[in-house]
Amino acid sequence: MNQQGFHSEFSADTLKGLSAKPKYLLSKYFYNDIGSRIFQDIMQMPEYYLTDCELEVFTSRHNEILSAFKADNKAFELIELGAGDGLKTKVLLSSLVHQKIDFKYIPIDISKQAVADLVQDLKKQIPDLPVEGIVGDYFNLIKKLNGQYRKIILFLGSNIGNFEWKESIRFLQHLRSVINIDDMVFIGFDLKKDPELILKAYNDPSGHTAAFNLNLLKRINDELGGHFDLLNFMHEEVYDEHTGTARSYLMSRKKQSVSIEKLGKVFEFEAGEKILMEISQKYDLELIHELAEKSGFQIVRNFMDSRQYFMNSLWKLKR
Ligand SMILES: C[S@@+](CC[C@H](N)C(=O)[O-])C[C@H]1O[C@@H](n2cnc3c(N)ncnc32)[C@H](O)[C@@H]1O
Repeated sequence: MNQQGFHSEFSADTLKGLSAKPKYLLSKYFYNDIGSRIFQDIMQMPEYYLTDCELEVFTSRHNEILSAFKADNKAFELIELGAGDGLKTKVLLSSLVHQKIDFKYIPIDISKQAVADLVQDLKKQIPDLPVEGIVGDYFNLIKKLNGQYRKIILFLGSNIGNFEWKESIRFLQHLRSVINIDDMVFIGFDLKKDPELILKAYNDPSGHTAAFNLNLLKRINDELGGHFDLLNFMHEEVYDEHTGTARSYLMSRKKQSVSIEKLGKVFEFEAGEKILMEISQKYDLELIHELAEKSGFQIVRNFMDSRQYFMNSLWKLKR
């Protein structure tokens, strides 16, 4: 999508989200250049256990993971949806290159800077890796997946958890409709655990998560002529241990009106009113099985970290 197309989608989604009751914004817009950098800081935080867990899975199990990927040694495309800085994927990529497996890495990300940085990094760190970065929204890009090669699709780092349940089924069913019988999908799932640990990961004392959320209001100010005063909003995280859903909100500190010039609208906020910014769903084995089943996949193999906090699940089409 070109820049103009992106902006009209950003405008339309912002208008829809802030006109809804309750108000919401879409988390895919977190990732402008500043947002992508803040997310990298989040990944470095000791409280954000997700990165360490997935890194441990890849570091300790890469041989088994690659054996499961290889199937019958056919060349494949390794397509990563929302690749970010590829920190953890690099472990698998190095191993694939080292084992001289015939594949090409295709990282897709909505952030232009993230893709540029990742491709540049990979050229330095793994010079023999065939890589082609793509900038865009994976919702739009997966429609165009086809081609002559076998595909393994990576959806890591609990990206799937940012979807509501029905949305995740729709997304995976859609993915199912554009892949073939010998293709595979490798998904990261953050597992249900001590609620306190989960809340700490999204409610860090250093304030990175708050800054990450507030940056989307700043982006609306910069790109859509918004007049949000960031000091008038505060970050709040809520975790429901029964459903396993963590929700990030920005809460209005007072009654206020905020105009957004490019939308030609003024939005009213009550004191204490919240904007839902992102959900982060936590799973258990039963839920992962149900998700695979409902979206038309079968589980090939699961890989868990030693603390059993996180699971990478390899799926293929259900026959
Ligand atoms: C939570 S981060 C995860 C990054 C990486 N996969 C990891 O595990 O560390 C989400 C990444 O997906 C990208 N992203 C979010 N929504 C997207 C979309 N609709 N299309 C393409 N990329 C998206 C963001 O720019 C960001 O780099």
